[in-house]
Amino acid sequence: MTVVLGIETSCDETAAAVLADGRRVLSNVVASQDAIHAPYGGVVPELASRRHLEVVVPVVEKALADAGVKPGDLDGLAVTRGPGLVGSLLVGLSVAKSLAFVHGTPLVGVNHLEGHIYAAFLEPDPPEHPFLALVVSGGHTALYHARAPLRYALVGETRDDAAGEAFDKVAKLLGLGFPGGPAIQKVAEQGDPRAVAFPVAQMTDGARDFSFSGIKTSVSLYVKRHAPLNAARVADVAASFQAAVVKMLVRKTVRAALHLGVKRLVLTGGVAANGPLRAALRREAAEHGLTLHIPSPRLCTDNAAMIAAAGTARLQAGERAPLSLNAAPDLALA
Ligand code: KG4
Ligand code: ZN
Repeated sequence: MTVVLGIETSCDETAAAVLADGRRVLSNVVASQDAIHAPYGGVVPELASRRHLEVVVPVVEKALADAGVKPGDLDGLAVTRGPGLVGSLLVGLSVAKSLAFVHGTPLVGVNHLEGHIYAAFLEPDPPEHPFLALVVSGGHTALYHARAPLRYALVGETRDDAAGEAFDKVAKLLGLGFPGGPAIQKVAEQGDPRAVAFPVAQMTDGARDFSFSGIKTSVSLYVKRHAPLNAARVADVAASFQAAVVKMLVRKTVRAALHLGVKRLVLTGGVAANGPLRAALRREAAEHGLTLHIPSPRLCTDNAAMIAAAGTARLQAGERAPLSLNAAPDLALA
């Protein structure tokens, strides 16, 4: 049995998890900082690193205790080295490197986005390569063609905001709080998705890229023009915005899959926790004969089990990081 501890501190979740054989989650601890950043309507990097520093050791201790594993028994350590906030990344890296130093445990640095993709491998029916992965989070919105294990080609990405960022900004405009995604999804249940026709961005050069800044501006103008918005109007705007974002994501993803001739899709990242997005992509994938893999919502948002999963694959491929491993805030996957 291969037992790997994953540590994730790239943004505003302090997370640690223990994974057996790259598939069995023995523990999965996530300490959210939502309450700390909520008053600011977004993540404050300085506050995030300070909070990681306070809770990271208890979080790691809990993950080990829940799994019934001692640090010296670990076969590997997997830690997020990027992309993310540098001050936040350094906290997880320091803890992982200390453990590796003390116990002589093999260490590997993991790309956070590869972690999101590996969340799909923690489900009972993992995807087979090749597949197309839509990684849609607070910091990233990109399509990756995973041709073979650990090999990725970038197919398309956002030219401006990430989809999750758009959810967060629109939620702020509507006074719905932080994080915006879950808040918008909840309020949208009471609204009419056809109430407002927000623009669905098209790339004039035909590229498979995304863009979410236009819709964000449209919502902003709408809110200014119709202020003050009553609760029913807020629900309609939330539902219409969500429907437009879902449409953009689904359309581009299915088109890219058909163009590449890929038969399998993976939907992952924080925004993949969104119910209407999951349902819409399921519908479209089925219609086009594509197999779709979506991790459970808990594994879509930031966690360390996904980091341990990607890390196990890399450790098994013989990869090892030196103790000089550093944070890479702009690390690319492909
Ligand atoms: O992957 P993640 O946990 O952190 C990053 O790597 O960024 O993604 C966080 C993003 C936030 O923007 C949050 O608003 C969004 O995911 N999100 C959602 C939902 N749950 C989280 N967006 C839409 N619907 C949701 N249910
Ligand atoms: Zn993430």
